[in-house]
Amino acid sequence: MPGIDYSQKIPNNVDLASDKRLQRALEEWQPNYIEWWKSVGPTDFNTNDIYLRTAVSVEADGWAHFGYVKMPEYRWGIFLEPQDPARTIGFGDHYGQAAWQQVPGEYRNWLRRLIVTQADTEPASVEQQRLLGHTAPSLYDLRNLFQVNVEEGRHLWAMVYLLHTYFGRDGREEAEELLQRRSGNPDHPRILGTFNEPCEEWLSFFCFTMFTDRDGKFQLLALAESGFDPLARTCRFMLTEEAHHMFVGQTGVARVIERTCQVMKEHPGKDVKTYGAIPLETIQKWINYWNSSSNDLYGAEISSNAANFFGAGLKGRAYEQRYGEHKALEATYSLERLSDGRIVREEVALRNAMNEVLRDEYVKDNEKGLEYWNRVCEKHGNEFRFRLPHRRFNRRIGDWSVARFDLDGHPLDEAAWQRLSPQWLPTEADRAYVKSLMKPVREPGQVASWIAPPAKGVDGKPLDFEYVKL
Ligand SMILES: [Fe+2]
Ligand SMILES: [Fe+2]
Repeated sequence: MPGIDYSQKIPNNVDLASDKRLQRALEEWQPNYIEWWKSVGPTDFNTNDIYLRTAVSVEADGWAHFGYVKMPEYRWGIFLEPQDPARTIGFGDHYGQAAWQQVPGEYRNWLRRLIVTQADTEPASVEQQRLLGHTAPSLYDLRNLFQVNVEEGRHLWAMVYLLHTYFGRDGREEAEELLQRRSGNPDHPRILGTFNEPCEEWLSFFCFTMFTDRDGKFQLLALAESGFDPLARTCRFMLTEEAHHMFVGQTGVARVIERTCQVMKEHPGKDVKTYGAIPLETIQKWINYWNSSSNDLYGAEISSNAANFFGAGLKGRAYEQRYGEHKALEATYSLERLSDGRIVREEVALRNAMNEVLRDEYVKDNEKGLEYWNRVCEKHGNEFRFRLPHRRFNRRIGDWSVARFDLDGHPLDEAAWQRLSPQWLPTEADRAYVKSLMKPVREPGQVASWIAPPAKGVDGKPLDFEYVKL
């Protein structure tokens, strides 16, 4: 495994130079990608120097190099974790057989679909976030936004490399399509619902990176188990980048909470809006909205596709090695289902419940994030406690999408939902208030009224460091 070669037009650690055909194909895709970045990526700021990290090695320690970069000159490239020649398939019908280095013919379409679905989310989120640079609450946050954006761009590169390398002509066509679909475009939308939702203010950005990027983490964990070795190795390296995105979300929301708690302490009994802070109840609504939307990304509770992907060895469970049994042929999974308007428990074949198994891990991980936020409230002596909505709440996909449920997952009739849901989900007035706060703050070290400063800067730099040169 060579190190990352930055002398190439496309930085890579896959010895791209020795495969001239592939190199040419990717070099033809590259200008289209840059064109896409400039037309629907971050608006403006493409000529500014931004303090960004770039991968210098795929080793877990010290893989990043920090320095000023103009975004269109970011060294997007192809980085896979090193190959383990002894690796075997860790689950499904082919358990124990040697991992595939080429696409298994019988699973070609399924595998392409999995890769395209993952790939499509990467440019989608960049499109969703494209206007946020104009209203960043600090230079530190502006820099973090762009770091997330360039890394999502790199994730697109990672998936396009797989399509070009292993799927021939239809892979190349899919790679083109990835630059054609548009987030929120009714005629040519992105594949998955959440990635078409507008993300127009920073509270949504922080909730998106907390909840939607965390879906990304679990999808990548499941694909990192894949028997198709190049996909597994690609996803492992993507996971190291994803961790930063969730950090941005978790600490971003925590800083908003912190600021509100400070205002409540300083001005007891007063409306925090008077002081330009965001009410804790409003933050909870944003949590409810983005968490419920992201729950949908795991798909239906019972899914024959999920069973097929698992059986074929293409998409496993997160942390597959933690399980004692890897074929999941005999086992069942106990699930709640809706039957004649009542919630009943049912045993289903485990393979058919793989979407739900992955969602379980996701919910557990989110709960830790909620505890972190509640510790901020505790620290300030504030009695408010945040919560995750029940996974049945506000769903658009799967069993629960056909009915209404409250935050605890209790069924509601439509009239009750209409009456109560404005307490749970952002209203027009809530959105208008949050948007009214979105004024850019561009003095190094300064932050907007509605958010506390970060605990520390990036790469050991002070808070008043010039993270973006404007
Ligand atoms: Fe990503
Ligand atoms: Fe991400």
